[in-house]
Amino acid sequence: MKRKISGFSKLSKNEKIDWIIKVFFKNDISKRKILTDYWNSNKKIQSIHDEFIENSISNFYIPIGVAPNFVINGKDYILPMAIEESSVVAASSKAAKYWSTRGGFKTEVLGVEKIGHVHFIFNGDNKKIISFFKIIKKNIIKSTSDLTKNMNSRGGGITSVSLINNTNKMKGYFQIEVGFKTVDSMGANFINTCLEKIADKLLLEAKNYNPFSKKEKNIEIIMSILSNYTPNSIVKVSVSCPIKNLESESNMSKKEFCDKFVKAVKIGEIDLYRAVTNNKGIMNGIDALLIATGNDFRAVNAGIHAYASRNGEYSSLSSAWIKNEEFNFQMTIPLSVGTVGGIINLHPMAKWSLNLLNNPNSNELMQIISAAGLAQNFAAIRSLITSGIQKGHMKMHLLNILNQLKATSIQKEKAILHFKKNKISFNSVSNFIKK
Ligand code: MEV
Repeated sequence: MKRKISGFSKLSKNEKIDWIIKVFFKNDISKRKILTDYWNSNKKIQSIHDEFIENSISNFYIPIGVAPNFVINGKDYILPMAIEESSVVAASSKAAKYWSTRGGFKTEVLGVEKIGHVHFIFNGDNKKIISFFKIIKKNIIKSTSDLTKNMNSRGGGITSVSLINNTNKMKGYFQIEVGFKTVDSMGANFINTCLEKIADKLLLEAKNYNPFSKKEKNIEIIMSILSNYTPNSIVKVSVSCPIKNLESESNMSKKEFCDKFVKAVKIGEIDLYRAVTNNKGIMNGIDALLIATGNDFRAVNAGIHAYASRNGEYSSLSSAWIKNEEFNFQMTIPLSVGTVGGIINLHPMAKWSLNLLNNPNSNELMQIISAAGLAQNFAAIRSLITSGIQKGHMKMHLLNILNQLKATSIQKEKAILHFKKNKISFNSVSNFIKK
């Protein structure tokens, strides 16, 4: 059977599925049913999702849960979290409640500038391109005025334009680096459109710049694209309280808990293996919020992990310390998010999530998301240094195991009761069901 096809995207949804089932599943209709079972019965909703991407054939659900009791800068929130990992919402809720009576999460946006580049090759006299750039800089900004008019009226637009000489890294390699403020939109389309316009203008100006030789006039544009590294669009989040006000842990004093917590975070700062896992825990909270609010989690993840390596070595994003008998836990992360535009306007659930958060602007959303990240990190480290992570994880995972074992509702009820006092593993649950 031929496994290649041309014109696939032009087939109807049903035709696409038929072809896949015939060629890749030997006409097993049960495989077709799985896809169609996941179609939304509301045709309007289904067509919204079908039009998000090319070759859509069904939906891939992940649950959306809520984590209540978040206090962020004195305001109460319940956070929408879209995530498939069983323990994440529970952990967030626990950390939120913990800090709700201890001053809550304090956050501050330290910057909102995003950056994009026109990457190009100029083979010639470097002094000439520097003088050329000084002359055309204003024209470059002007060339985008049609595009930036609306953004300017909302308080955004282009914030800076500079020429960067990278010829020590690659022959002839220069960049025009452009700073942007995109207000409440993530702004990727706006930034990329402006950059492409700037690239066109650069070429045109170079062609008409007479001090350039014929070769120098022939600037080669390699690409024009925003950067998902946003070290100037950052937010700080922290929690702190006197050690004596922390919750009592069953197996250690409050002071011992703090000391162990600080050491656990320090290990993440100095050990790569732990740093990655520490940050993965932070991303559990951040990604769940990003997905629920229709934001580009791949972009944010790429930027955050690069930021975690900004000092030359990948390290923990969070830090903890004790000062004057007070426990402090803090993190600063880059976040480029939007509350308007793109999928946010189209996905009813993304809109719903933003409504639940009381329609934040992008600055507020940055702060809420950072709190979700720190909460998740606090919950994970607290478990790791006290009961161990598996107790909570497996408690939340019990239902998944029971579902895998196709347990009936009576079996589930009995298992939940039994495993309140017994150790959960796939084998122990499986044996319990067999019995
Ligand atoms: C699991 O999804 C996340 C943790 O591994 C994070 C951490 O170890 O800090 C629990």
